[in-house]
Amino acid sequence: MDNSESQPRLDVAAIHAATQGLRLGAPLLYFPAIGSTNTHVMELAREGAAEGLLVMTDEQTAGRGRIGRAWKSLPGRQLECSLLLRPTAFPPHFLVMASAVAVAESIEAVADVQAGIKWPNDVQVDGRKVCGILIETTSDFVVLGIGLNVNGTLADDPALAALATTLADACGRTLSREALAIELLQRLDARYADLCANGTAAREALRAAWRGRLVTLGRRVTLLQGEASISGVAEDVDESGALLLRRNDGTRQTVTWGDVSS
Ligand code: BTN
Repeated sequence: MDNSESQPRLDVAAIHAATQGLRLGAPLLYFPAIGSTNTHVMELAREGAAEGLLVMTDEQTAGRGRIGRAWKSLPGRQLECSLLLRPTAFPPHFLVMASAVAVAESIEAVADVQAGIKWPNDVQVDGRKVCGILIETTSDFVVLGIGLNVNGTLADDPALAALATTLADACGRTLSREALAIELLQRLDARYADLCANGTAAREALRAAWRGRLVTLGRRVTLLQGEASISGVAEDVDESGALLLRRNDGTRQTVTWGDVSS
């Protein structure tokens, strides 16, 4: 696997055709390159865009990650997209779970490799990150941004390759980004519809699916929150998805944000 081949543009017409009738994914706006799909969806949301809007690109020049980090684009080799949601029936933290579970299930369906979740919503294959999810919430809307490393390799960036990988490197073949996008939209749409319609039963089923994939649980971890770091054992997650960390001094701390490493 190398990065020398030129990449075909994302076939958004195929994605659009296969996702007709879903609540999420329409309208679908495509940009060959853009600063950040999340930033663009935020702007459109403030102008009153409707739930379901999807912005996709082949390259981000100013992609953003969680906790103020930058997101590295692999032009033509990632799935980089953002959705506009206006949930009213459930709290946004269920979208953290729904998106990570939908990505993990889509990877398994299309790439046939096992996917786990590093709390709260990094998706990993072979113990390395393949997908980052950035959820930005206001009182009126939620922007859900997904960056999935699909094709090519990170081998030319050893520091990054120690922590992250691509699906192609993990499964040994080039994958269809369109197939992954379609699978992901279908699964996310189904979870979203379930959360909207089925209250507690949907929340519990989703939380169980998410918890069952968490590679973090039971491990000794270091949690970074800005300049601060806390070490302990990641014992469990609570009803809202917060991490229950048993600190080295024996006290238990409920953690709602940060970056864990083990
Ligand atoms: C993270 O792991 O820190 C989250 C990364 C999220 C990256 C995606 S790519 C599409 C969307 N637009 C952005 O600027 N960021 C998200």
